[in-house]
Amino acid sequence: MTAFTFAPNMIPQDTIAQIFETARIEEVVGDFVHLKKKGSNLWGRCPFHNEKTPSFSVSPGRGIYKCFGCGKGGSAVNFIMEHEHLSYPEALRYLARKYSIEVEEEQRTPEQEAETTRREALYLTLAYAQRTLSDNLWNTDEGRSIGLGYFRERGFRDDVIDRFQLGYSFDRSTAFTDRALQDQHKKEALIESGMSLLMDDGRVIDRFRGRVMFPIHNQSGRVIGFGGRILRSDKKLAKYVNSPETEIYRKKDALYGIFQAKRAIIEKDNCFLVEGYTDVISMHQAGIANVVASSGTSLTIEQVRMLRRYTQNLTIMYDGDPAGIKAAMRGIDMVLEEGLNVRTLLFPDGEDPDSFSRSRTADELQQFITSNSKDFIRFKAELLLEEAQGDPIRTAALIKDIVGTIALVPDSITRSLYVRECAQLMRIEEQVLVFELNRLRRKRADERHKTNTPDGPDEASDPGALRPDEVVPVTQPVAEAELGSTPQERDLVRLLLQYGHKDMLVRYPTEDGTMAEEEVNLALFIVHELAADALDLNDPVLQSVMLEFRQMLAQDQVPTMQHFVQHSDPAITALAADLGSTPYVLSSRWQDHNIFVTLESDLLTRAARSSINMLKLRRLDMHIDGLNRALRAPTDELDEMATLQELTEMKRIRTALAREIGSVVVR
Ligand code: CTP
Ligand code: MN
Repeated sequence: MTAFTFAPNMIPQDTIAQIFETARIEEVVGDFVHLKKKGSNLWGRCPFHNEKTPSFSVSPGRGIYKCFGCGKGGSAVNFIMEHEHLSYPEALRYLARKYSIEVEEEQRTPEQEAETTRREALYLTLAYAQRTLSDNLWNTDEGRSIGLGYFRERGFRDDVIDRFQLGYSFDRSTAFTDRALQDQHKKEALIESGMSLLMDDGRVIDRFRGRVMFPIHNQSGRVIGFGGRILRSDKKLAKYVNSPETEIYRKKDALYGIFQAKRAIIEKDNCFLVEGYTDVISMHQAGIANVVASSGTSLTIEQVRMLRRYTQNLTIMYDGDPAGIKAAMRGIDMVLEEGLNVRTLLFPDGEDPDSFSRSRTADELQQFITSNSKDFIRFKAELLLEEAQGDPIRTAALIKDIVGTIALVPDSITRSLYVRECAQLMRIEEQVLVFELNRLRRKRADERHKTNTPDGPDEASDPGALRPDEVVPVTQPVAEAELGSTPQERDLVRLLLQYGHKDMLVRYPTEDGTMAEEEVNLALFIVHELAADALDLNDPVLQSVMLEFRQMLAQDQVPTMQHFVQHSDPAITALAADLGSTPYVLSSRWQDHNIFVTLESDLLTRAARSSINMLKLRRLDMHIDGLNRALRAPTDELDEMATLQELTEMKRIRTALAREIGSVVVR
């Protein structure tokens, strides 16, 4: 095999300087990463390693990017080299193109062309193919009457045909191959690119014949392959012929329309996913540009990760037929697991986004999308409820199914919101769902634990850490006699009442081991933590204060001590007065040193964390007591083995929790 070496033409030094001066790092990176301004820098999810929380920063002032997760960093040129897998001169040319800076260089001869790298050769062949096929479409009699005629009949506008660089392949077996050879392209390159086929008898013929052509672009707009659609309906021939996989075209990585859609995806902070080429194009034509297609196959994890760089929100749009519904179902779980929010939209049976948008005005389409897209819970619930038809056993199975999907959501706060919605939709107790959910997550965590050794950050080293993904046991409902106002619950509510409005800094390890920080008010922190762990307060008065916090926080308000002191419920008034008269005591040592008076955000974090942990510990102890008691006086219904197992598990969790508390509470 020939080794290709790339001999770049020299780019003049002053042109290089001009490229560096003109390229704006935030624009260059912004083409690939969804950036949000925070302070003087911009932040996004790193495109070089897989992460769910942004640790990738861009400094427009200094012209650099830096990822605190994987450590990658550099200039706009470095970014393009790394991201697009380009050499230094190629990256410079890329930026020159982006900023319309002219780079004078010699015309490339076919010999020079052959020297470029294999990948570059593939790109060149496909770019040539695209130009040739578009030329066929617009500038030849056959192309205009058959190809262009077909597109226009389908209602495609010229500007859209142009934007997607559509083309036409002549209905002769060697039309493209012959012309390419004439234009000095090598037979081997044509075959390797998938445009030509080598027959057993040694002849080389066109892969695409008498078809309208849809070039498939990568994120930076280079053609990586084609789909060709047949014009007449012929049962013997496949409707679409597609390029084979090559070094630059991997089906699992490609998303049709991504190049034309990416700006709109970032702008709208949402992406529509459709099935085919024509769906993408018709949606564009109807004014909806944030749309890509998985091209007939089910969505892959790689495609989802690509989209996640641009947005967190995906709307899956499929046909309303059983196949479409099934495909949508399959997609949902994986998308959720990757940390994206997913909505679904089914078109009326027999219609796809293409047919639907062609028979409606842009406004009607927009209206349809707004009123018919639903989050996955509602989508699954409605669909499955209809299937179950009131049969209690099937309904139970369907609840398990939905909870199984919710359990995939990595973020605990989002999870608890979904649980609430699901409970409302299915009209069942939230607690029942939470119990099932935690059982599932615990099971999965155990399975993960068995298969890989954890190498996450040392939890004890950061006692104030909030771990969004923490799986916390939910204790069984306690016996009536044990209900009552525990000191731990009072402690927590006192903290809420006195300091709920104070901001605190929450630090938490991200999945890749770095720390992220966020400022939230203390009330929000506590309420979320309790909700995530499905912890309610046993004391009814304390619980109603907690609920009122939850409701007001949902409306972006933090209730004050005054609010409760003037409450219409006298039990609450009394409680507020009582708790308000004794200042929250963290620990004697902090008090002695009078540090608490200043109440640093760090201390607040510790106080909240420790207060919640103390409550959890108390609940665990109560549960362990209950299990011990049951074992001492077993009844006929008691499954001793199961109870013993549970006891062991609870003790294990208690040890872990106690260790954490030991490092937090200074007593
Ligand atoms: N597809 C394919 N090969 C096929 C059929 C379909 O690759 N034999 C892929 C194409 O990417 C196609 C998508 O699956 O765009 C969806 O298929 P379909 O709905 O049949 O095609 P449409 O794009 O809707 O084409 P048209 O509207 O022209 O029928
Ligand atoms: Mn169609």
